[in-house]
Amino acid sequence: EKNVGILAIDIYFPPACVQQEALETHDGASKGKYTIGLGQDCMSFCTEVEDVISMSLTVVTSLLEKYGIDPKQIGRLEVGSETVIDKSKSIKTFLMQIFEKYGNTDIEGVDSTNACYGGTAALFNCVNWVESNSWDGRYGLVVCTDSAVYAEGPARPTGGAAAIAMLIGPDAPISFESKLRGSHMSHVYDFYKPNLASEYPVVDGKLSQTCYLMAVDSCYKNFCHKFQKFQGKQFSLFDAEYFVFHSPYNKLVQKSFARLFFNDFLMNSSSADEVAKEKLGPFATLSGDESYQSRDLEKASQLLAKPLYDQKVQPTTLIPKQVGNMYTASLYAAFASLIHNKHSTLVNVLTTIYDQASSQQCFVLSNEYLHFSIFRQVRG
Ligand code: ACO
Repeated sequence: EKNVGILAIDIYFPPACVQQEALETHDGASKGKYTIGLGQDCMSFCTEVEDVISMSLTVVTSLLEKYGIDPKQIGRLEVGSETVIDKSKSIKTFLMQIFEKYGNTDIEGVDSTNACYGGTAALFNCVNWVESNSWDGRYGLVVCTDSAVYAEGPARPTGGAAAIAMLIGPDAPISFESKLRGSHMSHVYDFYKPNLASEYPVVDGKLSQTCYLMAVDSCYKNFCHKFQKFQGKQFSLFDAEYFVFHSPYNKLVQKSFARLFFNDFLMNSSSADEVAKEKLGPFATLSGDESYQSRDLEKASQLLAKPLYDQKVQPTTLIPKQVGNMYTASLYAAFASLIHNKHSTLVNVLTTIYDQASSQQCFVLSNEYLHFSIFRQVRG
């Protein structure tokens, strides 16, 4: 099947939230630590009447209704979550309540759990299914749902909660360049949930930040390598209109993009100009480990990357800054933010693609309640 990807996306987050400014005061943190230091505005949370099941039931019902999708037309349902509800029963089976009513129990897929990565695993599973011989012609549906709650202490302001649903099928306005995926997986105890009776993770904050940045570096290198192999030219930050990150808190997104900028400099790619070469030159010989510890490098690369960040990343930060970390849903909430912020310019892109792809499906761009149809970026 051609151009398999996201046909529709919908997001739900709880109406209850705490202002980070008020949380700073409440926690006795220094003024600006959560708002400027972490870069967050608000944090959503589930009250006693909501949880990951209710959020996902809401978002799936809402997507099907808004886009007029017959529940019988869903052939695969994949859930990404790291919020443990039951040690055996999947969240997917709770969502079956929506489909059983219509006589549809013939739906493949279960839950994927691997910290914040489960949502992406679920998405890849659905995309691969539609691209495969097993596809029966119906839609795939991906649900990312999490409630991120931390014990009292420095991690607490980095919580959040939301559920995202994505409809997957062919001739999609957002399609995947599946060959160019780059991954990084390793065995580390930076963030885990060994105590099943508690909703709190055990987290080594500093280690988790370094792990995140190492994974960003590694994925970027793998991606650049594959881009070179399949497209026959070197990739640089100039080659993509936007960069969307998993967003535990905004400061880490800023640091991650700066890290990509530093990678471009090390690979001597086109985005590294003379000023960058002069300012980053002193850091070129640092070992990998030293480079993660260097505050001077962090600050210098963030400053140099700022103009590109404002253009290529800032439009993706709206929902994560307002809602907080949504674990599996964070990356896709950042993506939804991009569509919300750029839909007027993306409409033309969509129209162009729409004509070129002579797609049979019709998509209406709407920004009502952060509910979107999406674009595909023109390449080449
Ligand atoms: N005004 C402005 N900035 C301030 C202020 C202030 N008053 N006080 C502190 N800051 C800055 C710090 O300088 C720092 O920014 P920098 O790194 O750019 O220098 C930032 O605020 C955070 O301050 P720290 O002292 O580093 O924060 P702390 O160590 O107390 O906690 C942490 C931060 C580790 C992220 C913690 O919230 C945590 O453990 N969160 C959960 C783990 C997490 O989200 N990891 C991310 C990847 S894994 C995942 O997705 C779950």
